[in-house]
Amino acid sequence: MIGRLNHVAIAVKDLEKACATYKAALGAKISAPQALPEHGVTVVFVELPNTKIEFLEPLGENSPIAKFLEKNADGGMHHICYEVTDIIAARDALVKAGARVLGDGTPKIGAHGNPVLFLHPKDFVGTLTELEEVKA
Ligand code: CO
Repeated sequence: MIGRLNHVAIAVKDLEKACATYKAALGAKISAPQALPEHGVTVVFVELPNTKIEFLEPLGENSPIAKFLEKNADGGMHHICYEVTDIIAARDALVKAGARVLGDGTPKIGAHGNPVLFLHPKDFVGTLTELEEVKA
């Protein structure tokens, strides 16, 4: 079921500062910021040869990363995202196996325009895990 590593997401308090650090220190290629109000974040992609890093900055009142940043003042790794070819089949198999899908279990459209779901960190070795449907 599990496919390629799509991205690793890092929550940050200051997107501009995070991008400046990655540009200056690492020479990274970084996309323009994209506001995703329905996910409560503004996102930027750091393009790497084999995957992406996403910086997530809170957007709006009830950002899902606000609490994380209260506990991790300097920012930190927030989640990891794996590709699947059929997100509904993946969800159904995981739920059947006892895994908890966050929210109501209906995929949302993520930052890349593809359906995404999140799996409970307690079921996946302490790491919030995102699945993104990417057609082969
Ligand atoms: Co993500």
